[in-house]
Amino acid sequence: MESKLNVAVVFGGKSGEHEVSLMSATNVINAMDKSKYNIHTIGITKLGKWMLYKGPVERLQDGSWEQEASSLNSQELVELLLGSMLQDPAEKGKIDAIFPVLHGPNGEDGTIQGFFEMLNIPYVGCGVIGSALGMDKAISKQLFIDAGLNVAGYVLTYKHEIKDNLPGVIAAIEGKFPYPVFVKPVNMGSSVGITKAHDRDELEKGLLEAVKYDRKILVEEFIKGSEIECAVLGNNYPEASGAGEIIPSKEFYDYEAKYFDDGKSTLIIPARLTEEEEKSIKEAAVKAYRALDCCGMSRVDFFLDRSTGKVYINEINTIPGFTKISMYPKLWETAGLSYSKLIDRLIELALERHAETR
Ligand SMILES: Nc1ncnc2c1ncn2[C@@H]1O[C@H](COP(=O)(O)OP(=O)(O)O)[C@@H](O)[C@H]1O
Ligand SMILES: [Mg+2]
Repeated sequence: MESKLNVAVVFGGKSGEHEVSLMSATNVINAMDKSKYNIHTIGITKLGKWMLYKGPVERLQDGSWEQEASSLNSQELVELLLGSMLQDPAEKGKIDAIFPVLHGPNGEDGTIQGFFEMLNIPYVGCGVIGSALGMDKAISKQLFIDAGLNVAGYVLTYKHEIKDNLPGVIAAIEGKFPYPVFVKPVNMGSSVGITKAHDRDELEKGLLEAVKYDRKILVEEFIKGSEIECAVLGNNYPEASGAGEIIPSKEFYDYEAKYFDDGKSTLIIPARLTEEEEKSIKEAAVKAYRALDCCGMSRVDFFLDRSTGKVYINEINTIPGFTKISMYPKLWETAGLSYSKLIDRLIELALERHAETR
């Protein structure tokens, strides 16, 4: 029998999506084939402390893993990842691949990917550039436009402009679109800091809320459409899964509706699309993936205006959710790739890319 691969699953993190990461990591670890992998779980607390956790996976979700984990100073962390702390002779002595199950800033934005590059360890998902581009909703929009994709109209503004000239910012937005509009911090995820503003008062509040999270703020025209998501997997020859559709339980797909709604938001797989619509969405998803130089995986999200048939790309998520109700693994399952085979493939892609680039 081949020896097992040492895979480090890194979870938690300082971002507003810490809890989502705990849910995703629980599912990833449960789905990993224990006959193929020695799993090392490394958590990052909300304060940014790295910890080695050796307890049961059941304790991730409620945060109680932290009580049993031992903190790692920077030298110990690097030694763990590079091997000198893995002393069990059954283990080969180094981490063969890292699966960052982290969402949001510092996890999904290229920073931690840069750290793994420095250590020369293969890791799952997009590299530094794809991660960084995907995290920035304003820059990715520019690249989507360059790739010939439709995006919702938008105004980009900044914290200092909102602070120094709120009436001017509001006038620029009102001059461009009617209400409602969406206000978004550029670098977040899971709907953190996002609001739908129906009038000037709500816009003002939304802008002031968004600046708590970021210095760059996007305001977008409202697209009345179905929310369609498509999963992409691969390095040099990325493939798109079929598409899925989300019917949010609330006015929009906010943080509550995404993760804490006991499944009241409905996922429809496959999405209700004509063959032609599905084909064009899959093509757009791969185009977007290539435009941002993604590799490994990403989930690409769209709006479909059913009255005009027009497809708008909303965003790309380079580390999609892996929670029980998450679209990315479900889409692949429907396409015939089980959760655990999907993880095998992601790790394989990480190793392939590493071998190709080194
Ligand atoms: N321009 C828009 N028109 C209509 N709904 C939107 C628009 N932008 C965002 N939304 C709603 O808000 C949700 C979260 O926005 P999104 O940009 O996807 O942020 P996140 O990265 O947090 O998922 C979307 O899933 C959708 O329900
Ligand atoms: Mg989204």
